[in-house]
Amino acid sequence: MRVLGIETTCDETAAAVVDSPREGEATILSNEVLSQIAEHAPYGGVVPEIAARAHVEVLDRIVARALKTAGVKLADLDGIAAAAGPGLIGGVIVGLTTAKALALVAGKPFIAVNHLEAHALSARLTDKVQFPYLLLLASGGHTQLLAVRGVGDYVRLGTTMDDAIGEAFDKTAKLLGLPYPGGPQVEKEAERGDPERFALPRPLSGRPIPDFSLSGLKTAVRLEAERIAPLTATDVADLCASFQAAVVDVVVDRTRAGLRVFREQCGKPNALVVAGGVAANQSIRRALQRLAGEAGLRLVAPPLALCTDNGAMIAWAGAERLRLGLVDGLETAPRARWPL
Ligand code: KG4
Ligand code: ZN
Repeated sequence: MRVLGIETTCDETAAAVVDSPREGEATILSNEVLSQIAEHAPYGGVVPEIAARAHVEVLDRIVARALKTAGVKLADLDGIAAAAGPGLIGGVIVGLTTAKALALVAGKPFIAVNHLEAHALSARLTDKVQFPYLLLLASGGHTQLLAVRGVGDYVRLGTTMDDAIGEAFDKTAKLLGLPYPGGPQVEKEAERGDPERFALPRPLSGRPIPDFSLSGLKTAVRLEAERIAPLTATDVADLCASFQAAVVDVVVDRTRAGLRVFREQCGKPNALVVAGGVAANQSIRRALQRLAGEAGLRLVAPPLALCTDNGAMIAWAGAERLRLGLVDGLETAPRARWPL
C-alpha cells in the first residue's frame, strides 16, 4: 500500500511516499522537506501569509520530487493524504487543495489527516510499537499527553494551560536575542551554560493532573535577564541552561503524572513515546529515557527527521487510516483548529 503524504500546516513544505505492505509495517520511499526558516527568520517567527505563499510556490516541485525519488507515478499510489489541520489556515488550504486535486485527477482515495494524529502515529513508522502507549507530543504549537489506544482512538490525559513547550523555547530564545527557531539555539547555548545559576520555577510540579504550564517559566527568564542586563554571552548560556533544566524537570514530572493516570484509566502502556519538534532535544530525550527505565517501559522516539514536521508522518497516518477504510470526501474542509 503506497500513500503520498503532504504537509503544509506550518513552515515546512513537505511531501513523502510511504509503502506499508502490511498492518504496522512501513518503508519510507521518499521524504522531501523544504524548510521556510530563512523566509521567516527576519521576523523572529512564522508569518502566516508568507508561509502560505511559499507553500504555493514550491509544493508542486516537492510533490514531483517525492514521487520521483520513490520511483512511483500517481497511478501507482493507493491513496493521497494531506494534513487538513490544525495549523495556519492559508498553508493548510494549499496542501489540502493540492492533495484533493491529485486524488481527483488520479482517481485515488483521499485521506484528510489530523497533523496531531500524524505526530501521534509517527513512532510506528520506524518502530513496531503496539497500542496502547503513552505519547508526549511536544511541538511549537502543541503540548499534550495522550493515551494512544489505536488508530483514531486517543484520550487526552493532559495539555498545556498556556504556552506549548516549543513555543516556550522559541519565546525564551527571542527574549535572549537568539535567532528563530529558538529550540535548537537554546539547546546549543545550554551546552556551555550553568544550569544551576538561576533558580527558575517548575510550574505545576507534583500536581496529580498531568497538565503543563510554561508561560511562568518564560516570564521568570525574562525577569532574570532584565535584572542582570546587559547580558554577556555567559549570561545567555547560563539562562538557556537554567531554562532547559527547568523544562526537563517539568517534562519528567508531568509525564510521570501522565503515566499514573494512564495506568488508572487504560492499564499498562506498551511504551512511552515522544514526538513533535521538541523531541529533537537531547536533554529531554535522555531524561525521558531515565523515566521510562524507572517505569519499566521502553522509550520510543522517532529519528530526528521524523520528530519535526514532515510528509512521511502524514503518508503513514494516511496509510494506517486507509487500511481501516477511513477515507474522506473531497468536500473535506481545512481546519485551523482541530483537537484530537
Ligand atoms: O513539530 P514541529 O516541527 O512543528 C510544530 O510546531 O508542529 O516543532 C517545532 C518546534 C519549535 O518550537 C522548535 O523550537 C522546537 O520544536 N524544537 C526544539 C528543538 N528542535 C526543535 N525545542 C527544543 N530543543 C530542540 N533541539
Ligand atoms: Zn508538528
